[in-house]
Amino acid sequence: MKKLIAIIMSALMILSLAACGEETETTVAPESTEAQSQEPDTGAPESQEAAEFTTVQPGKLIMATNASFPPYEYTDDGDNIIGIDPEIAALIAQELGLELEIQDMEFGSIITAVQTGKVDIGLAGMTVTEDRLQNVNFSSSYAKGVQVVIVPEGSEIKSIDDLTGKKIGVQESTTGHIYCEDDFGADNVVAFPNGTQAVQALVSGKVDCVVIDNNPAKAFVEANEGLTILDSAYADEDYAAAISKDNEALLAAFNAVLDAKIADGTIQGIIDKYIPTEN
Ligand code: ARG
Repeated sequence: MKKLIAIIMSALMILSLAACGEETETTVAPESTEAQSQEPDTGAPESQEAAEFTTVQPGKLIMATNASFPPYEYTDDGDNIIGIDPEIAALIAQELGLELEIQDMEFGSIITAVQTGKVDIGLAGMTVTEDRLQNVNFSSSYAKGVQVVIVPEGSEIKSIDDLTGKKIGVQESTTGHIYCEDDFGADNVVAFPNGTQAVQALVSGKVDCVVIDNNPAKAFVEANEGLTILDSAYADEDYAAAISKDNEALLAAFNAVLDAKIADGTIQGIIDKYIPTEN
């Protein structure tokens, strides 16, 4: 069922991508911040019109994330938030003539922050789902994710079916959380504020497994002894940026840059830098 929904979602994304491509024939040229805030009503060329949008704070692109999700977003030794999503956001902000500001918050607060106009975008390895589409728009998809299961080496959990009756650790409000509650019952699911804490609970034996996205799973398994990832995947997903339904212009401008950077291979280049052996 989940896979079916994921496939339908992917198909919808491709359709909407195609539709967006038609609407915004022109790409957004890099431009200065004053171009967005005070816009002269003299006949601006079409290409600039495509770039007319507002942001929460003029001149800034404020991105909400949950920086406990390597390699998409995590903190370096100096507490800077780094990773695939911050790099993509910085690139798009630069092309739009905006300064990027990143706000770290709980994953479950990101959609609300976007919806209530506290931030411009949510970029957090966030999966496009039907439920979330009720509340926000999503950009073109820039990456794929897979929900996988982390277990201690030698665990009796060998496949998804073996999760029945086990204590499953998840990150609060994520697709893994929602799917596991649906499939295995809320009583068997323990939600943690972030992936790091879910994995710590696994290491200390408080849960039997953790369901989380594949690339963070690989990073957590590398960072912790004695863990392994099951071969069988739980669900396939598309990642995209969440943008307010009230800001179609920002969505169009964001997508114009993102689509161009996907087409010329720049986005894949950023992903490859963090996930060298993706297959
Ligand atoms: N892809 C999953 C979802 O959208 C998990 C994302 C978690 N991201 C994060 N930055 N913690 O629900």
